[in-house]
Amino acid sequence: MRRCCTRMIRRSAIISVVTVTAWIITAFLFSTELVEDVNILAYTPGRDVKSNIDICETKTLIAPGSRPLVALASFPGSGNTWIRYLIERVTGYYTGSFYSDAVLFRAGFRGEKYDWLERNTIVVKTHETDSEHVDKFDAAILIIRNPYDAIISERHRQTGGGHVGFAKEVDFTDSGGWNAMVNDYLQYWEGITTLWLLRDFPRLVIHYEDALENTQRTMFEITRFLNISDSEVRADCLIQKTEGLFHRKGANFVFSADPFSESMQVMVNQSIEHVNMILLQQMRRPVARRKSFND
Ligand SMILES: *[C@@H]1O[C@H](CO)[C@@H](O)[C@H](O)[C@H]1NC(C)=O
Ligand SMILES: *[C@@H]1O[C@H](CO)[C@@H](O)[C@H](O)[C@H]1NC(C)=O
Repeated sequence: MRRCCTRMIRRSAIISVVTVTAWIITAFLFSTELVEDVNILAYTPGRDVKSNIDICETKTLIAPGSRPLVALASFPGSGNTWIRYLIERVTGYYTGSFYSDAVLFRAGFRGEKYDWLERNTIVVKTHETDSEHVDKFDAAILIIRNPYDAIISERHRQTGGGHVGFAKEVDFTDSGGWNAMVNDYLQYWEGITTLWLLRDFPRLVIHYEDALENTQRTMFEITRFLNISDSEVRADCLIQKTEGLFHRKGANFVFSADPFSESMQVMVNQSIEHVNMILLQQMRRPVARRKSFND
């Protein structure tokens, strides 16, 4: 009788210990679950809540030669740096360059310091227009921007100091060298666009204006072209900080009149028509409309 009860008491004591332990474990699990929930509330896109690192800023090089050599080709002033920045955010791979720009390197474009022929970057920026150069690539993403806007943007870069500075009104007059620049640069715009368009390697045409309008769709076009699967794309990294570091804000500069004279417009329109003919033959969208010159 006694032995039986002692045993029962001992057994129930064991059961209570087990129960209490189970409660403690449950409470612990529940509390960590609450902590996780709080973290979900504080979640900002791309930020790793545990290490507090912005994963959108983490990038690696690709294994040399593991992918085709893809050019990111454009006339200057057409959003090349911006698209590069977004490619790095969404793919997690560094982009390279035919050039070596210390300003861009310091801003985080670490791929600037490698020889582009090392093939260790996901795309390579280029503004070049010679066939031999083009032939070194296996594929190209060509960014096209309306030449009126691209030439003005490039003028700001050349005479206003770098990626975000502004030109002065005199830089858009004949005495300031504007007419000569429009002549040269219009030829350059038409030349670079037609050269890359008429290659027979795989090419993707991106209109800068479409990229502004629908950044997400444009970036998925790019990643699909690069054979990066949608599930690998860091789409969250397109929600914030999509402007990049070198956005020249147009509203800071006001023209008193259209810097493109009537005769310049005739020439520019002819170049656009020529490029449009090729784009339409290739079933691609035409060059985007010009913005108002004070937008
Ligand atoms: C993507 O994959 C296709 C089919 O395998 C291939 O032909 C093409 O060259 C690849 N393009 C890139 C940029 O990797
Ligand atoms: C150039 O084209 C634009 C847009 O089509 C048009 O508005 C403008 O009048 C044209 N300019 C000339 C001089 O043909």
